[in-house]
Amino acid sequence: MPIPVPVLTIDGPSGAGKGTVSRLVAKKLGWHYLDSGSIYRSLAVAVQNASIELSDISAVLEVAQSMALEFECGDDLVVRLNGENITGQLSLESTGGIASVVAAYPEVRAVLLKKQQDFKQLPGLVADGRDMGTVVFPEAKNKVYLTASAEKRAERRYKQLIEKEIDANIVQITSEIEARDRRDMERETAPLAMAVDALYIDSSDLTIEQVIEEVLNLIH
Ligand code: DC
Repeated sequence: MPIPVPVLTIDGPSGAGKGTVSRLVAKKLGWHYLDSGSIYRSLAVAVQNASIELSDISAVLEVAQSMALEFECGDDLVVRLNGENITGQLSLESTGGIASVVAAYPEVRAVLLKKQQDFKQLPGLVADGRDMGTVVFPEAKNKVYLTASAEKRAERRYKQLIEKEIDANIVQITSEIEARDRRDMERETAPLAMAVDALYIDSSDLTIEQVIEEVLNLIH
């Protein structure tokens, strides 16, 4: 019998703090970390590089099937697409928007499913995304649904951008976040939804440390 690999899934809308929490929890536990959004974001970059229409499903699918992704999971994640370092482009707001559009195609999700499941390796995995607990790792013993109000998420994103000296507009960010929530929650295939067996955490009024404590309590 193979040794079972423990999996912790953390799903939720963009900007709830999933990335930071998942990365730090994985580090504390000494487990692997899957940032599934970065796979959809890499596809968004690949689609942009190929200059194809987002509405051309078969062309998007072809790009998804042929892209070679490498992840270097050190202190900071480095992603290479067909050998080229694309890490800088992944965090752009525009990349997230395109990722959310191509992620709505069921055929694309099917192609990217195995790439994500391959991350499940000993000693354990922390997987962050939208459908980790519902579709990709439904067998996971520990599941979290991490959310926060759209206003709080927009405020955090605004602060991050200002700190990086990037021009930002809070009204525009809030409406982009709300549009992305709608697209991710209302799509037919693997929409963002809370798994029935997930622990619900609203991070609106919590610090990162408090969220991490709640998550680690669940594991222990
Ligand atoms: O988590 P993120 O913001 O990096 O994700 C970018 C987009 O990718 C998100 O808006 C929807 C899509 N996505 C998805 O459909 N399923 C996932 N498991 C992760 C991300």
